[in-house]
Amino acid sequence: MPSVLLRRAAAGAVAALTALAVATPALAGGGSTIGSPGLGDSYFPLAGNGGYDVRHYSLDLDYNRTGNQLDATAVITARATQNLTRFDLDLRGFSISSLRVDGDRARFTRDGQELVITPKRMLRAGRTFTVRVDYAGEPTEVIDPDGSSEGWVTTADGAFVVNEPQGSPGWYPANDNPRDKATYDFSITVPKGITAIGNGRLVGKHDHKGKTTWRWREDSPMAPYLATVTNGVFELRVSKVGRIPLYHAVDPVEVPKGAFDRLAAEAEIITFFSKVYGEYPFSSGGGIVDHAPEVGYALESQTKSQYDETPGAGTVVHEIAHQWFGNSVSLTVWQDIWLNEGFAAWSEWYYDERHGGDTAQQSFDASFARPPTSSFWTRPPANVGGPAVMFSSPVYDRGAMTLQALRVKIGDKAFFALLRDWYAHNRDGNVTTADFVRLAEKRGHQQLDAFFQTWLYEPAKPTTW
Ligand code: ARG
Ligand code: ZN
Repeated sequence: MPSVLLRRAAAGAVAALTALAVATPALAGGGSTIGSPGLGDSYFPLAGNGGYDVRHYSLDLDYNRTGNQLDATAVITARATQNLTRFDLDLRGFSISSLRVDGDRARFTRDGQELVITPKRMLRAGRTFTVRVDYAGEPTEVIDPDGSSEGWVTTADGAFVVNEPQGSPGWYPANDNPRDKATYDFSITVPKGITAIGNGRLVGKHDHKGKTTWRWREDSPMAPYLATVTNGVFELRVSKVGRIPLYHAVDPVEVPKGAFDRLAAEAEIITFFSKVYGEYPFSSGGGIVDHAPEVGYALESQTKSQYDETPGAGTVVHEIAHQWFGNSVSLTVWQDIWLNEGFAAWSEWYYDERHGGDTAQQSFDASFARPPTSSFWTRPPANVGGPAVMFSSPVYDRGAMTLQALRVKIGDKAFFALLRDWYAHNRDGNVTTADFVRLAEKRGHQQLDAFFQTWLYEPAKPTTW
């Protein structure tokens, strides 16, 4: 970390730490022609790589649960952001049978999750190039710092594929950082009778020699951790909300538990949040209810929220809210995870308020009733303490409380205008806490750094704000 920036952070400017993490790779770039192995994220320093910007992933996967073998080709289209004689992708495990850059064989080495590629010729800054990786083997289940499982999590009949925050390199070569969003094409071949579900729209399905190939396309930029190719025995139902197709896939074990009814609520939830936040961000939607209770969490995979079992009604509201906040408006650094979880949690409160349940203020009050001695207050949401606790309750509840307290402070009119602008200005983009503070001050017509300092950064129960 450059010390000048450290001093600035110590000076206590709100979210200076965020600015620091963003600034690091640019400074490290220098005149080197070697793409950096990470992007300086303070929680996941090696997640993502420097020197290029991915435009599109085309993933062609053949998977057989019997034997747990994945046979795959990834074609990545990227633009060099500096001259490159060498660059990295993130990939864990597998054996690579061929690696080509613009059709030419390229040399490569492996170093942990870094796949280090030396193209035959230097890639000039600004040019677009393709990397084709042919790889095969057993996909990797990644264990997170918080002990949870992600990546390719096998189930009885397939795999529940979820990646937040770092599972993607367990099944495809990626520039695994939310800053590098790209569009995706999936072609997933599985034994006949198995359904494979990718992000976006279903654009093709054909049977051949006892197998079925499912083709899906996500045409909005997507952070690598939001990709999925969940597969297994599923009942798939297609419906629509307005012009948006909704794909609902449910494991037969979960059908009698009312999973399809839970997912059917998505249409109304999408309509509701479209009115509150602005139009639904993507060209498709839906949800997957698998039977993978050992996973223990749901994930807002882009356009296909994923549930490890039949979810409660509030969880569906939460994951749909993430399509706006988290998926369309994405993080720049993982430390700002409250921008995803706090917004989704507040969205649940507000949904209840408008559907005959508790008001968001009542939900705030219930959370605020925790005694000052509770450990809940020692983890401020925008600096929760590290990746092992990045999904702990203060990120959700104190994050939501921050928004509700802001709503009261600046009034409903300014607050809802702020949320709409936050989405409108940052749709398909990347944001930081500092960006939010800036826009809140503008829309609220007041200085709010002390307010945000108290709610987001102080490891104590707020008293005045
Ligand atoms: N973003 C998910 C949610 O909707 C939580 C993901 C938790 N992931 C984990 N590795 N613990 O709240
Ligand atoms: Zn969430």
